[in-house]
Amino acid sequence: MTGPRKLYIKSYGCQMNVYDSLRMADMLAPDGFAETKDVAEADLVVLNTCHIREKAAEKVYSEIGRLRVLKDEAAKDGRKVTIAVAGCVAQAEGAEIMRRAPVVDLVVGPQSYHRLPALLDQADRGERPVETEFPAEDKFNFLKNPTRDAIRARGVSAFLTIQEGCDKFCTFCVVPYTRGAEVSRPVEKILAEAERLAAAGVREITAIGQNVNAYHGDGPDGTTWTLARLFERLAQIPGIDRLRYTTSHPRDVDDSLVAVHRDLPELMPQLHLPVQSGSDRILDAMNRKHTRDDYLRVIERLRKAQPALAFTSDFIVGFPGETDRDFTDTLKLIEEVGFCGAFSFKYSPRPGTPAADMDDQVPEHVMTERLHELQLLIDRQMAAFNKACVGKTLDVLFEKTGRHPGQIAGKSPYLQPVQVMAPASLIGTIASVRIDDTGSYSLFGTLADEVGNRVPERPNLAALEA
Ligand code: SAH
Ligand code: SF4
Ligand code: F3S
Repeated sequence: MTGPRKLYIKSYGCQMNVYDSLRMADMLAPDGFAETKDVAEADLVVLNTCHIREKAAEKVYSEIGRLRVLKDEAAKDGRKVTIAVAGCVAQAEGAEIMRRAPVVDLVVGPQSYHRLPALLDQADRGERPVETEFPAEDKFNFLKNPTRDAIRARGVSAFLTIQEGCDKFCTFCVVPYTRGAEVSRPVEKILAEAERLAAAGVREITAIGQNVNAYHGDGPDGTTWTLARLFERLAQIPGIDRLRYTTSHPRDVDDSLVAVHRDLPELMPQLHLPVQSGSDRILDAMNRKHTRDDYLRVIERLRKAQPALAFTSDFIVGFPGETDRDFTDTLKLIEEVGFCGAFSFKYSPRPGTPAADMDDQVPEHVMTERLHELQLLIDRQMAAFNKACVGKTLDVLFEKTGRHPGQIAGKSPYLQPVQVMAPASLIGTIASVRIDDTGSYSLFGTLADEVGNRVPERPNLAALEA
């Protein structure tokens, strides 16, 4: 063997895939795999795939097509490239991938990453293993192997998986099938990982899970901990200045979570709370288990507890049976809430989900029009929100060097990217920044001390909007 083998991982889809990709890289490092950003020099390519919409899933096959060429080229030089397909497409269509794509050497579903080293051995022997057992073993057991432990910190902000899977079964969604039943990671393992991240310079942790606020993990005291209790404890870790969580479900916002938004300054005042639709008829057909009014009441409770809170959401347009009137109800809900951003998608029928077989599928051109209209409204709200920040002072966690020489870039409490002329030594720290201007994506500011601003306790959205 000449030097370390090179590993190239490409992530699609959600934050959990990003996290899992780091986890796989860290797991393979003791076996001599060094990460590369150049796919052409890779000995092992892992595609960490997403099955959420048809377009996402199809990307995998076009990527595999490109990799086939790469693999053939390498073979001419006598070099073997191993191709692994991981993630939610692997889980959903593992056998089909093997059938459609002979260049793929192994398939591994999200429940089985701890088996990756063993599966690679099998692939080296010329077998083509497909590991999508469900769940194979304890899905968080990658922590049991001390040499293949929790993820390594890469910067000042880190994701940390606290929960995986979903029991909600929205009729459009593949996640309950690809990620399995809802499982919470035990508190002690989360704390251990958070402490290691903090010791390595991480200042901000985003707790992730498909249904993160349904968290109910075993606590060290033998009781079951809520997300709120977990946050209270995470906030005590020295160095952890900021906490966030995603993705949450409106049904699982309990009083303790509302209370930590009021009481815990480390918990950032931005919340991603997907609603999908503003029409009760559609919400019912989606099996969301909440009404439009339930959603508005959750927002109201949260805002009452923490006026600084700003919300983002997810929307699906063109769910089967969605009429103009249903869509108008969605636009009205958006007007009523006032979001600082949102993701929106055309409904994509997914194999095996109930909605795929529903009557009244909405024509593509109608979806296109509705998506456009919805996005214009969201863009207007986002621009208004960003504009309201101009002239205010926001705390920024600096993460990296900026776009231009002398600039550094970070995130506001609202996750807005902020560019500031400031010394690179501030990277990894939080400083108050007076916001001078907004671009289409970023905010631009000046270090608050330079302009002599008084630093507010924490940003108050109510004041921003006034
Ligand atoms: N667990 C989260 C996110 C799930 S996937 C939640 O409950 O909200 C992220 C987003 O993708 C969803 O919020 C939804 O807006 C979108 N999505 C999921 N399935 C989809 C489908 N079949 N077609 C279009 N968008 C979809
Ligand atoms: Fe999918 Fe619904 Fe579960 Fe979210 S809550 S992951 S949209 S089934
Ligand atoms: Fe996609 Fe799976 Fe995440 S389907 S959105 S990668 S949970």
